[in-house]
Amino acid sequence: MGKVIAGNWKMNGSAALVESLLPRLRQEIPPSFFQSGGTCFVCPPFPYLVQAQSALAGSKIGLGAQNVHPGDAGAFTGEISAPMLSEFGVTWCLAGHSERRHVLGDSNGFIRRKIESIIEHGLRPVLCVGETLAERESGRQKEVVDQQMAAGLAGLSESALEGLAVAYEPVWAIGTGRNATPEQAAEMHAHIRDWLRGHVSAGFAPKVPLLYGGSVNPANAHDLLAQSNVDGVLVGGASLKADQFLGILAHASH
Ligand code: PGA
Repeated sequence: MGKVIAGNWKMNGSAALVESLLPRLRQEIPPSFFQSGGTCFVCPPFPYLVQAQSALAGSKIGLGAQNVHPGDAGAFTGEISAPMLSEFGVTWCLAGHSERRHVLGDSNGFIRRKIESIIEHGLRPVLCVGETLAERESGRQKEVVDQQMAAGLAGLSESALEGLAVAYEPVWAIGTGRNATPEQAAEMHAHIRDWLRGHVSAGFAPKVPLLYGGSVNPANAHDLLAQSNVDGVLVGGASLKADQFLGILAHASH
C-alpha cells in the first residue's frame, strides 16, 4: 500500500495559516506521491474546515477532523457530529488521540462510540493508541495497546471496519522531540498487525494502514517509514510548517 501522511494541527493555526500552508501543499507534494498510491490528509481545527475545504478543492489532499461526538445531533453544547463533518468534505476522523484520552477525559467506551458514528456516516476512522512513559517503563506497552484496540473496536464487524486506520502514538513521544526508535515503532506495529489478524481476520489485517505518530520530523521520517508495518505517519508539530511537512512527504514519494 502507498504511504499515508497525515497532519494533526491540534488547537493550532489560523485563517492565515490555512491560506499559506494548503496552497503550498497543493503545489509542492510531488505527483509521484499520489501516483504511488500515497494518501495525504490534514486535520485543521473545526472553524477552519470550510476554508480548508475550499483551499483543497480539486486537489488530492484530503481533509480530516481531530475529534467528533458520537451522536448525530442534539443537546451537546460545544460538540460536533459526524454528519456535520461530512458536509464539509471531511473524509477522515481521529478517535482516541492521547490528548483526548489523557487531557480531555475520553474513555475507551466513548471512543468506541465515536468510531461507530464515524463509520456509520461514511468517514474513515483513525483509532489512536499508545502507552504512557510509566506504562512503557513497566513493560506494559503491548498490554495497554491491546486494551485500547479491543475497547475501541469492540463489537464492530469486519465489514464495518473496512476503512479503519490505526495510529500508534506513544504518549511519551508526542510533542516531546523524543520519537520512538524505528525498532520500537516496528515492534509495536507488528504487534498491532498481529492483533488485527487474531481479532478481526487474516485477510483484513494487511489492509489496515498503521501510522506512527510522535515527534515525526523530516530527519527521522525516512527511517520510521522504512520499517515494515509502518504504513504512514501522523504528524503534529511538523505539520504546521510547510517545509517540514513537505520534507516528511518527500520520504514517502518515489
Ligand atoms: P507531534 O504530535 O508530532 O507534535 O509529536 C503527534 C500527534 O499528537 O499526533
